[in-house]
Amino acid sequence: VFAGIKYPLDDPPLQFEVLATCGPARASFLTLPHHKCTTPMFMPVGTQGTVKGLTSQQLVDLNCGVVLGNTYHLGHRPGPDVMDAVGGLHKFMNYPRAMLTDSGGFQMVSLLSLANITEQGVEFQSPHDGSTMILTPELSMQIQNSIGADIMMALDDVVSSTTTGPRVEEAMYRTLRWIDRCILAHKRPEHQNIFAIVQGGLDARLRDICLDGLIQRNFPGYAIGGLSGGESKDAFWRVVLQCAQRLPPNKPRYLMGVGYALDLVVCVALGVDMFDCVFPSRTARFGTALVPTGSLNLKSSEFATDFTPIDSECTCMTCKNYTRAYLHIVAGKESIGGQLLTYHNIAYQMSLMSQLRQSIIDNRFPTYIQEFIDKQYPKGN
Ligand code: GUN
Ligand code: ZN
Repeated sequence: VFAGIKYPLDDPPLQFEVLATCGPARASFLTLPHHKCTTPMFMPVGTQGTVKGLTSQQLVDLNCGVVLGNTYHLGHRPGPDVMDAVGGLHKFMNYPRAMLTDSGGFQMVSLLSLANITEQGVEFQSPHDGSTMILTPELSMQIQNSIGADIMMALDDVVSSTTTGPRVEEAMYRTLRWIDRCILAHKRPEHQNIFAIVQGGLDARLRDICLDGLIQRNFPGYAIGGLSGGESKDAFWRVVLQCAQRLPPNKPRYLMGVGYALDLVVCVALGVDMFDCVFPSRTARFGTALVPTGSLNLKSSEFATDFTPIDSECTCMTCKNYTRAYLHIVAGKESIGGQLLTYHNIAYQMSLMSQLRQSIIDNRFPTYIQEFIDKQYPKGN
């Protein structure tokens, strides 16, 4: 489980400074090469070098600290040669702040289901020309070094959280073997950080083995993977609690693929610092706005003559300038509908995170959670 290969730097280009805690919940500064971020933090997903519907300037206006990119998609198009020629994704996207790239395996396995996993890597048919490609830990690191993100995710062997049996254990041990190949293939440790991903399904024993192995290797930060794939809330919270309790207190903790408001609030309470999810932007394109009471489907005819903003408390560009009645006309149809709702939904996520952060700093986090739940579930429904 531990072959003596450690992360190459004790002082990677990342600083994590906890300002305040409330139980396991933390408010911190996370300083990355391109930005000093505040946590708890939500990171919008920009798979193909764009958060669909938003410009880089809008992401800055929304005060996003980190945007996600994807190794699998960007490795294909534009590819590492173009990326090297332009000097990385920050310049290519004209996005001055921090970026994080996922390693690619998860996307191939979950999106394409064309993947076949071997010890060498994740083998798949290129959706572009049908040729067989293999994403190895070495290739994932090489592409992520070309992209230049502040945080690169290690290539992991991910199984769905509802998988049971020996495959879960195999994937966990393979994730540990691949992590050493990721460490050895990382060519820019002075400029980019690798985060390791804890796997092990819903099995506490396997999660513990993975935690031990990863923590010994001394990564700049850690992610909790393999969740949000249809497991029960109970099992989900149990794994997050176990991982958050065991991960080092002085390093950032990132829960992958989680972005529902209730999950964010609960998992911040359990000690998670960073989140990403396609949900807020995807649901926006289908016409749904996130609000403190839950969500609004703006396509519904009840909004046809509603001349109030999405959320009267929201100060975002969409809420300042457009009514529900207008959004009803464009939601789920016109590209501007997707753009305006995406803007609002990302603003909602950012505002939720900054409210959580402030309540931790002001030592009123439990009250904040109670108020949040009262709004989302009125009268105990
Ligand atoms: N995105 C959501 N969950 C995961 C995971 O377990 N691994 C990776 N690499 N990406 C993810
Ligand atoms: Zn708004």
